[in-house]
Amino acid sequence: MFITFEGPDGSGKTTQVAQTADALRKRGYRVLLTREPGGTSIGDQIRHILHDMDNQNLHPRAELLLFNASRAQIVEEVIKPHLASGGLVLCDRFFDSTYAYQGYGHGLDLTTLRMVVEFATGGLRPDLTLLLDIAPEDGLQRRLSAIDKGEEWTRLDDMEMAFHRRVREGYHALIAAEPSRWLRIDAAQPVQGVQAAILAALDARLPPPK
Ligand code: TMP
Repeated sequence: MFITFEGPDGSGKTTQVAQTADALRKRGYRVLLTREPGGTSIGDQIRHILHDMDNQNLHPRAELLLFNASRAQIVEEVIKPHLASGGLVLCDRFFDSTYAYQGYGHGLDLTTLRMVVEFATGGLRPDLTLLLDIAPEDGLQRRLSAIDKGEEWTRLDDMEMAFHRRVREGYHALIAAEPSRWLRIDAAQPVQGVQAAILAALDARLPPPK
């Protein structure tokens, strides 16, 4: 099974996906935990370009292609082989981030995005996608406190609040268009509550470990 985690910046997604991977391993699943952009050596180099605060003039179309270059690499090098061997893949962001950020956020044409994504993934789609949903103001507040603890502030965190609002609305539109693939989790609650909600949802849906 291929499960992806999505959410606005500061939704706590990265912490949650790591805790989920640990919990599922304890239940006996063979879990591969990975992330986008990145997840491969080539993808991590692309991630650096995308996050670099010096790259303020990166054009949205160039940004789109870089995210999808990283995606094509991780799909072939990491995700498909693990799925083919019967394992469970958890990915911190996947193509829905492209629709939410480059589509709804930057306003790039969604039909074109679908073609680019289809090309990058070779048609691979998540079986299940969890949205860790939080108001953008609260998410960015969390990101700011994380900076105090040494986390990186990225070029995308730095986008205006209206951009982050469009991203969240974009996620809601994606859920409405394909409700059977999505689960919305309230990410404004304390970390343990979010984790419990995720595990309850997965326990109800995952086949027993092989
Ligand atoms: P993160 O790994 O800390 O979540 O940062 C990744 C950033 O990149 C985040 O702001 C969302 C953004 N992003 C896109 O804009 N498009 C994409 O396709 C992906 C995967 C991420």
